Amino acid sequence: MSDFKKELNSLGKIVEQELAKLLPQKDEFPPKLHEAMHYSTFSGGKRIRPIMVMKAAELFGMPYEKVIPTACGIEMIHTYSLIHDDLPVMDNDDFRRGKPTCHKVYGEALALLTGDALLTHAFATIAKNSKIEGICPNAVIDVIEKISLAAGANGMIGGQTVDISSSGKDIDKDTLFYISRHKTGALISISLWSGARLAGASNKDLERIKAFGENIGLVFQIVDDILDEKGDEKTIGKPIGSDTKNMKNTFFHLYGYDGCMKLVAQLSSEAKELISKYKNNDFFMELTDFLVNRSY
Ligand code: IPE
Ligand code: IPE
Ligand code: MG
Ligand code: MG
Ligand code: MG
Repeated sequence: MSDFKKELNSLGKIVEQELAKLLPQKDEFPPKLHEAMHYSTFSGGKRIRPIMVMKAAELFGMPYEKVIPTACGIEMIHTYSLIHDDLPVMDNDDFRRGKPTCHKVYGEALALLTGDALLTHAFATIAKNSKIEGICPNAVIDVIEKISLAAGANGMIGGQTVDISSSGKDIDKDTLFYISRHKTGALISISLWSGARLAGASNKDLERIKAFGENIGLVFQIVDDILDEKGDEKTIGKPIGSDTKNMKNTFFHLYGYDGCMKLVAQLSSEAKELISKYKNNDFFMELTDFLVNRSY
């Protein structure tokens, strides 16, 4: 295993240990709600967004341990988004991270509420970052503001809304890019921005790291769309062909495989160019390659 993969695995384990401390306990009242929050959170995601928060902090000289509440809060938001995304009124998928989806196990009403609970608990968790020594409370306020915006109507929810309303219709490429930038790119780029902001990065560096995030966010969704068509169900842990079933407009459908590969090559080289400004950029260079080549 490469050093990069080893680092992904070890940071992923740390995220999981910290999530276990930062979420309400599994046996709290009401029991089914807390059980469902744990079920969906501890089901083996890649933890790519919290790792981005941690490594972006490190890039700007802050030990990753200091930004763990923000990292875990973002993973809670991500997990909520997946629970809602899988619901019958959305993508109607039965498997996620290799296990039956939250609504399949706990029913639709509880899945909806589990998502709500994770989203709200995320912000209580992120606010805890202000209590960590060496962290500027104003930076935490900025981070809360930006993450709320990235997750909301002008971010992830805007993207999810246009994704759903465009199903079965012809859309142009600008609309496809809007969907992807918002439903997926917004949370990825704000993860990087948040780690950098907490570490005290300059405005110029914040702009650059955000632009890097926007590029790899698009790469992430293009590859997600390809995997939905051509991936291995066991490896990705979610159903193949979900987008076609739902008549989704995806990169795969609008650009074809070769067109997607060209886009990925262009976006990833722009991303690498942006990150090449920094000395300790190895992780981010390898992360870009990992997102291009991933099979899960
Ligand atoms: C899947 O995200 C949803 C998208 C934004 C495309 P991930 O591929 O990061 O899912 P997990 O967390 O690893 O399961
Ligand atoms: C969902 O995009 C992005 C979210 C905000 C959850 P997809 O619908 O393509 O994600 P998957 O393929 O179900 O993971
Ligand atoms: Mg979806
Ligand atoms: Mg989906
Ligand atoms: Mg998908």
